[in-house]
Amino acid sequence: MPTLRSASSGLQLPNKRPKSDSTTPSKKRSSSRFKETKATPQSDDAIGKIAQCKVISSPTTSRKRLYGDEPVQKVKWNPKDPAQMKAVKEALHVATVPSNVACRDTEQNIIFDFCKECFKKERSGSLYVCGCPGTGKTLSLQIVKSKLLTWSKEVGHDILDAVSINCTSLADTSEIFSKILENFEGTCNPCSPLQQLQCIFSKRQSLPPKMTLIIVDEMDYLITRDRSVLHDLFMLTTVPFSRCILIGIANAIDLADRFLPKLASLNCKPPVITFRAYSKDQIYEIIQERLKGLGYDVFDSLSLEFCARKVAAASGDMRKVLAVCRRAVELLEAEIRDSCELQEFHTVTFDLMDKALSKAFKPKNVDTI
Ligand SMILES: Nc1ncnc2c1ncn2[C@@H]1O[C@H](COP(=O)(O)OP(=O)(O)OP(=O)(O)O)[C@@H](O)[C@H]1O
Ligand SMILES: [Mg+2]
Repeated sequence: MPTLRSASSGLQLPNKRPKSDSTTPSKKRSSSRFKETKATPQSDDAIGKIAQCKVISSPTTSRKRLYGDEPVQKVKWNPKDPAQMKAVKEALHVATVPSNVACRDTEQNIIFDFCKECFKKERSGSLYVCGCPGTGKTLSLQIVKSKLLTWSKEVGHDILDAVSINCTSLADTSEIFSKILENFEGTCNPCSPLQQLQCIFSKRQSLPPKMTLIIVDEMDYLITRDRSVLHDLFMLTTVPFSRCILIGIANAIDLADRFLPKLASLNCKPPVITFRAYSKDQIYEIIQERLKGLGYDVFDSLSLEFCARKVAAASGDMRKVLAVCRRAVELLEAEIRDSCELQEFHTVTFDLMDKALSKAFKPKNVDTI
């Protein structure tokens, strides 16, 4: 068991929240191969106006002064309460969509602004989103999609159709075109789904009258020997009068370079948005944010810091972080169940987190030996 000293050496307890935009990837991930092409973000007028508003400072004789500056005491977590335990596990579950996505504002804003510009100008476009597993690509695109749908309603036009396809669900690579086509009505002519889509997107007056946002997740599943499926997909954004915005998501940084060389020669290679691996500060912030709504502390800050540091150094994968944190909570649950002492259990301690981490990072062959 590591001593507290070994754990805390070099650890800095985050006493202030790290900046959400400062993506400091782990050394492994920060190679120059991670190129980021900014997709001409446009400044949002509305946001600009809000930013210009001056904050009116509170008077010196504020309530804060009258009642003192002491921070509000958090309610203590009672892990023996089944309802509370359930809420904690749910907040740490990978399938739970968090109400607030921390540390991905920059990437989300770039994608949002890119799409907004395309919609405003009724112009097609494509983007390629890449990054290591568990870096919030799918989650961020879900958020951007729903923000865009809300925005399109707010501006008063029903201007947007949005389609999301995960390529792992396709039986065949070329099925991607029929999946997209399913979203358009009255398309049942003898042409192939791809030809029908080309026809739809290339006619000025024909359907769709709206802009269509197509999000293709796990795009690397579409790589074929001749790369034709990927190529044809991106070419949908280049046909004359196309109103299709295509966003491809995959792990490989160089997918566009390697598999879409023709697009580069046609000068329509999609800009690349890279989601860097999460740093320890970001991981810490994300977990805190996911648990904020509960109103009580689940982890000792030292234990959470330890987990963040370890996962950031290995991969920066949020899925791994969530799995380790859930495991640590389960260990606490088991400890409470097995204990006959009237001990007070309130938070996941460093030791429990250490056990959870050891299990997660144990070499694969240890079990078999
Ligand atoms: N910034 C964040 N805030 C809260 N939760 C996050 C954040 N980023 C990732 N997660 C969580 O981590 C898990 C993995 O995220 P996501 O599926 O978006 O990763 P990904 O980059 O698409 O991974 P993959 O390349 O494997 O598809 C999800 O449960 C998601 O809710
Ligand atoms: Mg994903």
